Amino acid sequence: MNKHKHMESSSATLTDALPPTTTTKHGSLTLHPLPLQSPLQSNANQQHQQLASNFGRIVTGIELESLESSLEPSLESRLKQLLFKHSILVFRGGASVSPRTQLALTRVFDASAPGFYGHDNNNNNNNNFNKKSVLHPDLKTIPAVPQVQLIGNGFVEEHEGLANVNLVHPHHRTFHRDVVSEDDEERGYTRFYRWHIDAALYDLSPPVATTLHAIKVPKDKWQTVRYDDGTGDELKVPLGATAFISGAQAFSILPPHHKSLAVRTRVTYAPHPYVWMSPAKSLPTGLGLYSDSLELPLDALPPFTEEKMKTLPLCWKNPETGELHLQVHPSAIYKLTIDPSPSPKEGDLYPEGATLTSLPEIRALIYSLQRPAIAPQYVYAHDWEEGDFVVFHNRGVLHSITGAFRKDQVRMFHQCNLASGSDPEGPDQEDVERFC
Ligand SMILES: [Fe+2]
Repeated sequence: MNKHKHMESSSATLTDALPPTTTTKHGSLTLHPLPLQSPLQSNANQQHQQLASNFGRIVTGIELESLESSLEPSLESRLKQLLFKHSILVFRGGASVSPRTQLALTRVFDASAPGFYGHDNNNNNNNNFNKKSVLHPDLKTIPAVPQVQLIGNGFVEEHEGLANVNLVHPHHRTFHRDVVSEDDEERGYTRFYRWHIDAALYDLSPPVATTLHAIKVPKDKWQTVRYDDGTGDELKVPLGATAFISGAQAFSILPPHHKSLAVRTRVTYAPHPYVWMSPAKSLPTGLGLYSDSLELPLDALPPFTEEKMKTLPLCWKNPETGELHLQVHPSAIYKLTIDPSPSPKEGDLYPEGATLTSLPEIRALIYSLQRPAIAPQYVYAHDWEEGDFVVFHNRGVLHSITGAFRKDQVRMFHQCNLASGSDPEGPDQEDVERFC
């Protein structure tokens, strides 16, 4: 018997400024807190879940399939407001959402999106998505709606115009340098695969929202994510849970000298980063790469131009709450540019500013900023139910696949995100004055 079965918390009255229920012609949209997961960890110092109070909501009372053709503008703006405020919206109810409707719902969160997939898989000339990319094996494009990808595990004979597809749930063995032993895997140990933001990080702007629709979800024993970084941290997760952390919480728990550094820093990502990183191997936490000089040299990459390389702030400003979210894809970083501190204080890092190009130095610094945020008490591991439709604010969270499936366990999800029409905003002058 699974003694770690999660306990669904009751629908509590929220102390939000926004009311928990909104009535629309499509029904009454009601918000519930995320389910608590208990016990959370199995390391020596069990701690209670410490998710930010705003983080994630379950939404009930809305027929998603009915929204495709007739979304009221007021509902559209309400959904956007809710997503930016809560970062993850879980629509429960077991309904089936067609790829067309999923695309329409994904567009709700970003009117600026030109309308193609976040990695522009439609454009065969875009070498960013060629066969060398570490993303290549994980995604199968739905022919009629190419912005929607089929992902999952196992053999699928026919689905939405795709035939005889072998889906592979990414296993940490293919990406981590040192792996969980087969014996330990038998005993249920696993890893976070790769903490990331869904974004091409070259040429295209990061998607605002990603939607995930669970079509087929095999249930089995829970597994234990082991951090294997000397801390003893572990996290119990349902099989195949998607792990999320809040970028706002990641920023808020930083000490002042790290906040100052984060606000002053911009990240330049490698050209064609998923090709560039393809030979490199991950740390056991899935939070960035070892610096073993394995990345492809720039002259071995598909053609690129410097103008198309992405330089983005380390902190992205939430358009609804004004909070700063620590948002960085740790495996794709190439260079850091740090502005000088406007009013240097004792303990400030790089008070005079700096340009960092040494990968070991960059990665150690970014790891020290991000590692606190993936501590077990800050991770929400979503326990998928068939029919779940999850929207996450891709500019406000980091996420990771977890777990390992057997070949015969068939899992099917539809995933959609859209390259945005513009890059995320960074800290404003007020933030600089407040944190630096
Ligand atoms: Fe993702």
